[in-house]
Amino acid sequence: ASGCKIGPSILNSDLASLGAECLRMLDSGADYLHLDVMDGHPALQGDMHMMVSRPEQWVKPMAVAGANQYTFHLEATENPGALIKDIRENGMKVGLAIKPGTTVEYLAPWANQIDMALVMTVEPGFGGQKFMEDMMPKVKEVFGSGVHWLRTQFPSLDIEVDGGVGPDTIHKCAEAGANMIVSGSAIMRSEDPRSVINLLRNVCSE
Ligand code: DX5
Ligand code: ZN
Repeated sequence: ASGCKIGPSILNSDLASLGAECLRMLDSGADYLHLDVMDGHPALQGDMHMMVSRPEQWVKPMAVAGANQYTFHLEATENPGALIKDIRENGMKVGLAIKPGTTVEYLAPWANQIDMALVMTVEPGFGGQKFMEDMMPKVKEVFGSGVHWLRTQFPSLDIEVDGGVGPDTIHKCAEAGANMIVSGSAIMRSEDPRSVINLLRNVCSE
């Protein structure tokens, strides 16, 4: 692959020192910050992964807070088209996420209107879960029989993977063609986050 961007998920970090943790990650070479937002939890500046029940209501507040990308779950809205338009009108890039149980056929009709597709590789909720390798055919059917999903159908689309990604699983993601790599616990729990970030990035450029 031609390289990817590494976005630490700080969901598992010490919330009392969130600002410092963000700086520590940027200081360690992170390309962007993946910020997970769930119902009842506060928002922050950055690239927002909205795991909330009514994503429509947070578009403006996130734009005002300085978010540059707003990623919502296809499962959480009845009108993805209107939401995409609203996010754009508020000056943010659009990410569209699908949970493990949602097939990529539901995302495909929107792929030409979004900046990034997020293929969840765990059930949304918390960090430290096991990577679901069987999600990789959504990114690209490497060994499949003629149907090549997102990476082949939409070569210029940013494709992000999120959940259980670290040194042990990055190869599968890179091989499938994901180019935005979220990694939470593998980076945050490391004594040397910089080396983990570099390792993940290097595998993508192999
Ligand atoms: C899961 C979140 C992820 C999570 C990733 O609901 O969307 O971003 O924090 O953490 P790891 O890499 O530990 O699975
Ligand atoms: Zn996330």
